[in-house]
Amino acid sequence: MSYDSAILALSNDALRFVKDDYIIGLGSGRAAKILVKSLGSLIKNQEFNIIGVPTSLQIKLIALENKIPIVDVDQVNHIDVVFDGADQIDSQKFVIKGGGGALLRENILFSLAKKIIVMADKTKFVKNFSRTVPVEVHPLARNSVSIMIKKLKGKPILRSLDRGYPFFTENGNIILDCDFGIIKNPKALSQKIKQIPGVLESGIFLKKPDIIYKAKTGGKFEII
Ligand code: A5P
Repeated sequence: MSYDSAILALSNDALRFVKDDYIIGLGSGRAAKILVKSLGSLIKNQEFNIIGVPTSLQIKLIALENKIPIVDVDQVNHIDVVFDGADQIDSQKFVIKGGGGALLRENILFSLAKKIIVMADKTKFVKNFSRTVPVEVHPLARNSVSIMIKKLKGKPILRSLDRGYPFFTENGNIILDCDFGIIKNPKALSQKIKQIPGVLESGIFLKKPDIIYKAKTGGKFEII
């Protein structure tokens, strides 16, 4: 089932958090893509002077197509508001991200953001995390990190493309998708993952969103 109409509706609602002269973090993925297109219309209609900070080439190209001025994250000292999707959201409002491989840049933007807005369809909401945790790893540390993930009772799988080639992030790293079963203490797990040498980022983000939009069927949505 597609939740695109609900994501479009909630994107248009979420854009009320955008003000003139804002620096806006642009997450990656399907929900972020819909929001960025709406943002393009908003700044054109309102003549807003905003700057976008993209988290991936995917979203950078959409921003450019929609005439949104962009800069790299290392050219800003803060982000007024970041809009992003999520792969799973638990009942404590922690999020898992990185399904598209953009987790490192996404988490850097989260760390700089004054307001974090996450948008996801209702299938992504769970009591406890139950999907794999993407972990971005330096290629030289594939084996050593896998050993440590197994010590944490996780099962790491090297992310690959359809034809079997390894997936590389835009930062030149690999992703280990790690199955930890049901995760009851995401904060502790993420802290342990991040301490492993060679790990660049854990898909369990420790900074929680300020606002979460849940897309429902029939173009409806709810704010949490
Ligand atoms: C990118 O690496 C991810 O963190 C995405 O933000 C996440 O996978 C959500 O994407 P969708 O909106 O496409 O589900």
